[in-house]
Amino acid sequence: MTEKRYFIETWGCQMNEHDTEKMAGILGEMGYQATDKVEDADVYLLNTCTIREKAEEKVFSRLGVLKKEKEKRNGDMIIGVAGCVAQQNGGGIFERAPYVDLVLGTQALKQLPDMVGKLHGHQGRQLNVAKDPENHLFPSHVPKRGTSIRARITIMEGCDNYCTYCIVPFTRGRERSRPWEDVVEEARRLAGMGFKEIELLGQNVNSYFSTVNFARLLREMNDVPGLETVRYVSPHPKDFDREVIETIRDCPKIATNIHLPAQSGNSRILKRMGREYTRELYMDKVYMIREVLEGIPFSLTSDFIVGFPGEKEHEFWDTVTLLDEVGYDRIFSFAYSERPGTGAVKHADSVPQQEKMYRLKILQQHQLEIQKARMQARVDNPANVLIDTVKPGEEYPLVGRTRDNLLVHIKADVGEPERFYGKAVRVRVTGTGLHTLRGELCPEPIEHLWSQPNAPEVTTV
Ligand code: 5AD
Ligand code: SF4
Repeated sequence: MTEKRYFIETWGCQMNEHDTEKMAGILGEMGYQATDKVEDADVYLLNTCTIREKAEEKVFSRLGVLKKEKEKRNGDMIIGVAGCVAQQNGGGIFERAPYVDLVLGTQALKQLPDMVGKLHGHQGRQLNVAKDPENHLFPSHVPKRGTSIRARITIMEGCDNYCTYCIVPFTRGRERSRPWEDVVEEARRLAGMGFKEIELLGQNVNSYFSTVNFARLLREMNDVPGLETVRYVSPHPKDFDREVIETIRDCPKIATNIHLPAQSGNSRILKRMGREYTRELYMDKVYMIREVLEGIPFSLTSDFIVGFPGEKEHEFWDTVTLLDEVGYDRIFSFAYSERPGTGAVKHADSVPQQEKMYRLKILQQHQLEIQKARMQARVDNPANVLIDTVKPGEEYPLVGRTRDNLLVHIKADVGEPERFYGKAVRVRVTGTGLHTLRGELCPEPIEHLWSQPNAPEVTTV
């Protein structure tokens, strides 16, 4: 019998990427091999995102292509839809795309083997969009990760905020957190397996609570032996309090890129969006971060939506001026996209699509100027970098990330790649791209990424 193969296509956030790692691991345990060729795949899964309309439409146009592949093989192919489109549309997917065999909701990953088994046994189309909050609990060895440096741990799922533009509470359910002892135990196991970096995941990661709060969990994570960095996505500004920021200051393994999604710089629009802060309260957080992290290199990033219903031109300009006032190192910006069932649907005063796209362009160009200057200011400064990729023979053979999450390409005489893979190095920044840095190795070695967080300037190599 020939080997069975699977292909998983992933859209969306880090949580979806992690779910893909889990599904790949599950299929691997069932004896499936990964393939990157559509024509070789016996099981083809789309792990989908529904955050904006475009993302959802992409799924159905992709399904159209897969339908043709299935027809070529006289139906001998399993096509599955997982992720947020599956959770949101359920059996509606079968109506729109009757050749789909499997619809797997965001809380049903553990049922995948059983459902695939039933499909092989010709027991008809399979659907599971039930709510099973325990679905994220998989033994550490199950997820099939693309790297042996970085591993993800889901610490909470869901969202209770109901921002009026957002579909997440409908696709990922209410907030629920994993016991902190389990999280730390899993981190210890992963560190024991050689992982150097842990990324904690949650739709509102810093709203985490299970007998201890997020700050306390970070302190526990900082004490896990063998780890170099602890990252976390995606935080909500409302839970970025002084305790969390002081924890970041005190715990050298905790990443110092602060993602503070503002969404808008105008208080009336923020209120309409159901965010729990005004522009002024948001700025108070920024000032607090600057004050507490003084002397520690950190970066600030944000998400923005332009063209929210009723956003007047001058209100949009408040978002532009917020970029200047904060000085972000990077932003992720989007044109508002109406999502079914969300609170904002009731607003009739939508901004024309062309105007939304115009505002988006202005915002992005403005950020580009700010970003160029901020990146340039890093040149000639030192940076500690955890190497996660080694490409011998290339001009910049070492690639890694700083504590504040900037990608750095480093010139070096590599020799044995094992000398560098997963190791911390000290670098002098020599140049920048828009989102990345270039650098060269400094002569003094370092033991750990966090061993010289505030060291003085490096001048020679
Ligand atoms: N339209 C456009 N952007 C959205 N986001 C969330 N919902 C929408 C929507 N309906 C953006 C927000 C969020 C990021 C992940 O996606 O900026 O922070
Ligand atoms: Fe997309 Fe949100 Fe679902 Fe992530 S949780 S896949 S961003 S809709």
